Amino acid sequence: MPDSRVPRRRRFLVCEPRHFAVQYAINPWMRPGEPVDVIRALDQWQALVDTYRAHGHTVETVAPVPGLPDMVFAANAALVVEGRVFGSLFHAPERRPESIPYQAWFKQAGFEEVHHPESVCEGEGDLVPAGRWILAGTGFRTTPEAHREVQEFFGIPVVGLTLVDPYFYHLDTALFVLDEENIAYYPEAFSPGSREVLARLYPDAVTATREDALAFGLNSVSDGRHVFISPGATALADQLAHRGYVPVPVDLSEFHKAGGGIKCCTQEIRENRS
Ligand code: ARG
Repeated sequence: MPDSRVPRRRRFLVCEPRHFAVQYAINPWMRPGEPVDVIRALDQWQALVDTYRAHGHTVETVAPVPGLPDMVFAANAALVVEGRVFGSLFHAPERRPESIPYQAWFKQAGFEEVHHPESVCEGEGDLVPAGRWILAGTGFRTTPEAHREVQEFFGIPVVGLTLVDPYFYHLDTALFVLDEENIAYYPEAFSPGSREVLARLYPDAVTATREDALAFGLNSVSDGRHVFISPGATALADQLAHRGYVPVPVDLSEFHKAGGGIKCCTQEIRENRS
């Protein structure tokens, strides 16, 4: 069974953490003034980029802007499906200016259709394309109004899910897509009704423990075979290996101080629907 898992080459957009810091608190992980080791952050981030490239993925970069310490979290900048870009409108005023350099990057990269959302929407942080639909988180950041806007823009069904634990404030901290058919998630991060929705849609899902989730194990990126995953999520990595996936540990511990991990640092550019 292990060799039946087929990787698909991805195109990623990332942002060097040259100006990364914890200067404000917009989630429970952040303690302003907590020192961040920028050299260590740069090394960890570079290791992520090198690992993606070593697995055949394309990685492009957007230039970091001074004064935007969370700009490294590229996932929040947009959702890109079929080459169409649904941009961001951040919840926190501190992050709002990030949308501008990212939208400029998409324009200069040749993406003609760049939508500016009317409601708060934090890109792939809360919007997760999963085969035939888009899973969409709400509760802390992205609004249900934005879910409607996303469905209208892409013409793809949007499945709304309510997050209830402030430590898992973005959908991508509580759930990730393994491949076209399946996901991994931490059930307790969701409202009872949303948990039931996930159980109906994914009876065969990989479910993670709170320990795995707190280790940023659900903030992973899968190419269908390799799962780039936080090394602290050991029980989850074992489960994935059992299912025939290949866990590839990448340590982004310096970014956990801001409430981010592997997926947060990774924007996926999807030319085709997936
Ligand atoms: N400090 C950032 C925030 O709270 C972290 C964002 C993490 N990104 C993510 N896709 N979950 O907004």
